[in-house]
Amino acid sequence: MQIARSVGEMRDARRQVQGSIGFVPTMGYLHAGHRSLIERAREECRTVVVSIFVNPLQFGPEEDYGRYPRDVPRDLALCEQAGVDVVFVPEVQDIYPMGAGTVLEVRGLQDRWEGASRLGHFQGVATVVAKLLSVVQPTRAYFGEKDYQQLQIVRRLAADLLLDLEIVGCPTIREPDGLAVSSRNVYLSAEARGRAMVLFRALTAAQDEVDAGEHSAAAVRATMRKTIESVQGVDLDYAEVVDPTTLEPLDTIDREARAIVAAGVDDVRLIDNTRLTPVGA
Ligand code: PAF
Repeated sequence: MQIARSVGEMRDARRQVQGSIGFVPTMGYLHAGHRSLIERAREECRTVVVSIFVNPLQFGPEEDYGRYPRDVPRDLALCEQAGVDVVFVPEVQDIYPMGAGTVLEVRGLQDRWEGASRLGHFQGVATVVAKLLSVVQPTRAYFGEKDYQQLQIVRRLAADLLLDLEIVGCPTIREPDGLAVSSRNVYLSAEARGRAMVLFRALTAAQDEVDAGEHSAAAVRATMRKTIESVQGVDLDYAEVVDPTTLEPLDTIDREARAIVAAGVDDVRLIDNTRLTPVGA
């Protein structure tokens, strides 16, 4: 396994590679979710590249950039074990050289939901993803559905910039109790983790209701809200039923939709989502 510690080293490694390249961009502190993306890339591509870069541009001033969990030696061992060919571990000044002034916006999609609560977050994501894709030049890039809005933004970005690659969305990996695997779960105490599980319960209740024939998005939204609000110490931000591509709220669930939720648990922001398929669709 090769470790590229700068853009120059990554470009050199890229030049030596032939055939398909699968790319998994990460902020490190790798978990089962990342592992599933790497495995999928391993199955589908000749060469697998993983990047580890905690991107300062996607954190707000009040957010956890400083304390975001990091463990590069452990990540490298996990990558080696998973059969990764190249790990790209750039420094901040490499990705944002002195004087860097270009920031990307995916208008519309970036402003809703997570974007409304985390101002500038998706500009940071779009900018770093475009930079990483430009350096790695993969055939396919793999993103988890857990960050569903991010996935849709990256798809839009790739289409808008006419990038010659495939964006692959991969299913959310869950703990046995249903909690979506996330690097930020380490911030939760055992007790808070118990409360956090209500997000998955709300999504399951939404799917159950749709399975029972409910077509009203307002009814399903109300069920999710009620479920989440029934647990003290969980601070609901949004629980919505949206179009899976535009993320606009829906009135009627008469085709595939997405239920999306976000809440704070002891100041830890948690998000989750699920596909809703109406009966007969
Ligand atoms: O999902 C993440 O880990 C990050 O947002 C990403 C895509 C690596 C960009 O920093």
